[in-house]
Amino acid sequence: MTRFEGQVVIVTGAASGIGLGIARAFHDAGASVVMGDVREDALDQAQATFSDQERLACVQVDVRDAPAVAHLVATAEQAFGPTSVMIANAGIVPNASVLNMDVSAWDSVIETNLRGVFLSCQAAARSMVTHGTRGRIVTVSSIAHSHGRLGASAYCASKAGVVMFTKVLAMELAEHRINVNCVAPGVIEIPRRVSRMNEEFRTALLQAIPWGRRGQPDEVAQAVLYLCSPGAEYITGALLSVDGGYSTGWTHMPYSSPQL
Ligand SMILES: NC(=O)c1ccc[n+]([C@@H]2O[C@H](COP(=O)([O-])OP(=O)(O)OC[C@H]3O[C@@H](n4cnc5c(N)ncnc54)[C@H](O)[C@@H]3O)[C@@H](O)[C@H]2O)c1
Repeated sequence: MTRFEGQVVIVTGAASGIGLGIARAFHDAGASVVMGDVREDALDQAQATFSDQERLACVQVDVRDAPAVAHLVATAEQAFGPTSVMIANAGIVPNASVLNMDVSAWDSVIETNLRGVFLSCQAAARSMVTHGTRGRIVTVSSIAHSHGRLGASAYCASKAGVVMFTKVLAMELAEHRINVNCVAPGVIEIPRRVSRMNEEFRTALLQAIPWGRRGQPDEVAQAVLYLCSPGAEYITGALLSVDGGYSTGWTHMPYSSPQL
């Protein structure tokens, strides 16, 4: 397992789910970890789940707010030193059909999922360039960047935007030897989301995953750690699916002929 001792890792949306899994995996691997999230109470609860509070800090941040994101990075640096890794993970998933959607609902998804990723990456990249750090940045998109879902137009559009933003940022930061990559989780088991699924949707979902189960936050975290490890030095601008094969194709279709 790669170790991250001496590295300063910032994770946005770290109070729960995938972000918390990523923060914990980096912390277990020896990094100093700064967890940012808009929900202060949830951050406190998340922090309390770490048995070792060394190398750990929490900052309340709204990733839509540029000064707040700059403050997140500055606080991390004051606590532990220059930023080595930024994981732009914070995101929201409200559902509404286009016919019924308020403009404010559209804006809040795009502002959190796309503007928030831009601001988080920009703040970290500026710090890395200033300090001459050969850092790593990972954005969190979704299978939804390429697979539409009823009621999720804003979410799908935001996650497609994250993929292209990541690619261009990777081009721009190559001269500074900062790797920028993206993970696209499939269906990951997080307590808050699972409870909102109805049974019919859940059954259809599992049938569409060749692996036959949802993923766990730590399985996304391990992919993220790999992209931040020395072994991934030549990987930049890549999109790594972590989805149990969900994105392979027409997973719900049978063989075209019984002989096959
Ligand atoms: N769980 C899945 O199946 C799945 C699949 C694909 C992609 N994703 C993506 O993974 C990321 C994490 O989602 P999750 O599933 O762990 O859900 P989650 O709700 O548990 O975590 C998201 C976190 O982001 C925080 N957040 C929301 N708005 C914020 C803001 N403006 N500023 C700062 N923090 C904010 C929330 O408070 C929350 O703690 C999201 O980008 C999501 O789109 C999740």
